[in-house]
Amino acid sequence: MIPTPHIGATDKSMIAKTVLMPGDPLRAKFIADTFLEDVVQFNSVRNVLGFTGTYKGRKISVMASGMGMPSIGIYSYELYKFYDVENIIRIGSCGGYTADMKLYDVILAKDAWSESSYAKVQSGYDSAVVEGTKALNDQLLQIASDLKIPMHVERIHSSDVFYRENFEEYKDIYNQHGCVAVEMESFALFHNANVLGKKAACLLTVSDNLVTHELTTAEERQNAFTNMMKIALEMAE
Ligand code: HPA
Repeated sequence: MIPTPHIGATDKSMIAKTVLMPGDPLRAKFIADTFLEDVVQFNSVRNVLGFTGTYKGRKISVMASGMGMPSIGIYSYELYKFYDVENIIRIGSCGGYTADMKLYDVILAKDAWSESSYAKVQSGYDSAVVEGTKALNDQLLQIASDLKIPMHVERIHSSDVFYRENFEEYKDIYNQHGCVAVEMESFALFHNANVLGKKAACLLTVSDNLVTHELTTAEERQNAFTNMMKIALEMAE
């Protein structure tokens, strides 16, 4: 089933075994333009841009996920199932739920807690927690340590809702479930990897903090996320 309804690549070989997934299509383009050589664009359906190139001579792809679990659910499923992708590493932003998640800190999501129905509906999976793939996490930890980039390894909250009427609920989610930050995709990504026998990991950079109300501008984010990208790019094969 290639091309798929949402990915236009006409051959599996156009996409590497490892795909980095930022949410934003323009960040995917920025990564390809800034860090990759011999870049070929393999997707433009709905402007969800995807590129394959080499990093230090090793093949890697980068494609946007869009925002939220329905969106990453579609793209990650099609990449794993129809394009034989083995590893997806989400590289995203998150909001800190504790004061020690400082702006620009990097978090490796050990697992994701969510109130989302995604996994239940997708396959009947009935737990609120899904783990990332340990083998990928171990590799990412080693790379971060080699690059001397400090990294928090924590549980994160994957939320379906960005604008809550009662925004203070984050305190309960931290207290009851131990989530130190919020984003909107990892739970679905980790679930798809598990049901399809594939690997997934998630690196996040703190872009705002719900306790201290610090936040970054879109422009600052583009450059400041370089640390996280350098770690992820080393996963090229
Ligand atoms: N909420 C949800 N997702 C996010 C946030 C947030 O505050 N910041 C970055 N991604």
